[in-house]
Amino acid sequence: MSTPVVQAALRRATEWERLALSEIGDGQAVAAFAIPPTYLLEAVRSVDEAESARLRREMRERSDSPSALLTDRFVRWLLRRNQFLPLDPRTRRRIQDTYDRGFLRALRLHEHATRRDLAGLIEDHGNALRSLVTDITGGAPRDVVSGEYSPATQLAVLGLTMASVRGPVLDIGSGEHALLVHHLRSAGVEAHGIDHLADGAMQADWLTFDPGRNRWATITAHHSFTLHFRHHHHRADAGDTASAYAEAFMRYLFALEVGGTFAYAPAVPFFEALLPPDRWLARPTARILNGVTTTSTQITRRY
Ligand SMILES: C[S@@+](CC[C@H](N)C(=O)[O-])C[C@H]1O[C@@H](n2cnc3c(N)ncnc32)[C@H](O)[C@@H]1O
Repeated sequence: MSTPVVQAALRRATEWERLALSEIGDGQAVAAFAIPPTYLLEAVRSVDEAESARLRREMRERSDSPSALLTDRFVRWLLRRNQFLPLDPRTRRRIQDTYDRGFLRALRLHEHATRRDLAGLIEDHGNALRSLVTDITGGAPRDVVSGEYSPATQLAVLGLTMASVRGPVLDIGSGEHALLVHHLRSAGVEAHGIDHLADGAMQADWLTFDPGRNRWATITAHHSFTLHFRHHHHRADAGDTASAYAEAFMRYLFALEVGGTFAYAPAVPFFEALLPPDRWLARPTARILNGVTTTSTQITRRY
């Protein structure tokens, strides 16, 4: 994927990335929301037949096709607005199909397409994206704040100190900027992070990531994995997703070396109660930090 047209459109996509989920309903925001299809418009004007054929091929075959890249941006935008949105592979596929359809329609238009044709295309594409957002958010689009915390706060909440943290460390849901991971590394502690909003090697979904076995001295998860585990456990329709969290939790416990510790916040007492204490030493704690009560737990592997 190298067409300058698409590159330029991707850069412009940052304008709508500032929108809140709740803003996509009003007229002004709809226009901004439809900005990504600018690339469609320019593609129609500038792409010759050979280029058009190449783009169609790419769309089917490549994970870095224009629609795959725009889908990735769109998914990231959704997750930044609300990290709890269910963006499973099927939903991602639906988003990419929407971009594919818009793109194919643009490529089918020839250079004599009228302004009305183009406006219609952009409007339809914007509407398709909007109705996807309505489906994904269950009709109640609303931003849910998901902050990144300073390393000092994360360590304090987790009941850890720089002197007590042993590497290698795996930080689950480390945040887009992996602040704790970088902080630990700068003090010479081997540390790795995973987050589905991160780039490169750190990008992973914590439900499918393989942490290995007997590998980590410390695993941390501050306002991330267990926050979501609680969310799914307490849902009225808790089911497969809550079980997937329980299974992943056990994978992370067995990824600890013997004597290693999983430190996370918030606590998950409904799950901790099930762990045999002769095998897993669980130490739940409640602290008041900056006037807010936070719960966290450290589980140490004993066998
Ligand atoms: C509230 S932030 C906390 C980040 C960091 N631990 C901190 O305290 O600064 C939660 C993070 O979990 C990540 N996250 C949410 N669901 C995830 C998933 N299924 N797999 C990986 N990361 C996920 C989000 O992208 C977000 O960066």
